[in-house]
Amino acid sequence: MIQLINIEKFFGQKAVLQNINITFKEGEVIVLKGVSGSGKTTILSLISALLKPNSGEVIVDGKKLSKIADHFASEFRRDNVGFIFQKYNLIPNMSVKDNILLPLRPLNPEKEELQQRLEKLLEMYQLKEYELNLSQNLSGGQQQRVAIARAIVNDPKIILADEPTSNLDQKLSLEFIQQIKALKDENKTIIIATHDPLFYELDFIDKIVEIENGQIVS
Ligand SMILES: Nc1ncnc2c1ncn2[C@@H]1O[C@H](COP(=O)(O)OP(=O)(O)OP(=O)(O)O)[C@@H](O)[C@H]1O
Ligand SMILES: [Mg+2]
Repeated sequence: MIQLINIEKFFGQKAVLQNINITFKEGEVIVLKGVSGSGKTTILSLISALLKPNSGEVIVDGKKLSKIADHFASEFRRDNVGFIFQKYNLIPNMSVKDNILLPLRPLNPEKEELQQRLEKLLEMYQLKEYELNLSQNLSGGQQQRVAIARAIVNDPKIILADEPTSNLDQKLSLEFIQQIKALKDENKTIIIATHDPLFYELDFIDKIVEIENGQIVS
């Protein structure tokens, strides 16, 4: 499903990723582990075509992302990837409801279908009472839940989660883990970049990839 082949990524003169070779199969849950600055977010950005490598190939679901044009990249993301950003990237002056439904806008779905998906997610992430609040007025944990709901609203095959529990308390983190397990049961491919030790001991995790200074160490 996802292949990174001989990836090198530079920011200016600095090699941020070197010699990265990984293969993830459909339906796997992978934990990307590494200290701050090791390159986790950069790897997720390559897999979602938000960044391109300086050399090497990124192949996702048969598509060579390292080659595609920017407007195809956004289409690819809309159809295939749910990204839970480390800093959420919500639209601050938009309501919770509109933030969650944002990825579906260009598809112009029926009102009833929209409402159904929205209700399900609001309930799942305990956001019903905030539906019409502006996202800028939510707490960190609430914003994180809106970001998670928005990432899965388009029913993507691939879910990339960047430090998804950094602002959740233990109870909500454990609930998030249960939701990941449910998404795995739907055969989603899920990559979680995290330092949260809660993720290291889970029986449904297929792989833990450890990255250090831009290189895979295990
Ligand atoms: N746009 C950018 N321009 C220049 N350097 C960058 C850019 N993005 C990331 N970097 C650098 O690349 C390295 C890897 O960053 P990355 O965000 O992938 O790390 P990370 O493992 O996600 O860290 P964290 O756990 O703090 O989120 C860091 O040294 C960072 O400073
Ligand atoms: Mg990061």
